[in-house]
Amino acid sequence: MTQDELKALVGQAALKYVQAGTVVGVGTGSTVNCFIDALASMKDQIVGAVSSSVKSTERLQALGIPVLDANAVTQIPVYIDGADEIDHQGCMIKGGGAALTREKIVADLAQTFVCIADESKLVDTLGAFALPVEVIPMAAAQVARRFERAYGGQAAVRTGVVTDNGNLILDVRGLKIAEPLAMEIEVNQWPGVVTVGLFARHRAGVCLLGTSAGVRTLQF
Ligand code: 5RP
Repeated sequence: MTQDELKALVGQAALKYVQAGTVVGVGTGSTVNCFIDALASMKDQIVGAVSSSVKSTERLQALGIPVLDANAVTQIPVYIDGADEIDHQGCMIKGGGAALTREKIVADLAQTFVCIADESKLVDTLGAFALPVEVIPMAAAQVARRFERAYGGQAAVRTGVVTDNGNLILDVRGLKIAEPLAMEIEVNQWPGVVTVGLFARHRAGVCLLGTSAGVRTLQF
């Protein structure tokens, strides 16, 4: 099966986690686009979606799925999103699509994070994928220096990208992230960091992994 077919498979499989009569949290990316397309078949059964990006909002609305403001909900049962890497504890690197801040906000509203990904995303140790970090523009150089000093990582501003929140993305290469939670807590404290793309506090509870043998369900 191609990677696109695996994404379509898990996008469809995620529908079974969507509860009728509730609001669903919706992530961002090519795998989530497959989920959004599948969700259209349930649009009359759900109250609506809370979206993690302008791109996902536009896709949801084009399919007639109501999009609610995150401030209008107190809790949602599930958040469905992709990942750039996921480890065997459900910790993830996210932000390849630059939507990490809103993704973490919606994940924080959710009781369960359901990760949908093709099998190439499952890793033993996070860090082969460059870690995205959303930063206030004036802090970019200082945050990059801190990564070098603290973790030996090389950070570069992602060219041509401004986030939905008007900030920059640093991509940090050369990391082997043995303790994702500790790194997430530390980096979040650096001045000018809006969000680090480590999802350890908001790790996945379930991962639907697309494999050539079908959907593998990982529970964490
Ligand atoms: C966007 C993300 C995405 O979930 C991540 O980049 C995976 O995307 P894709 O499904 O296209 O591989 O974190 O900010």
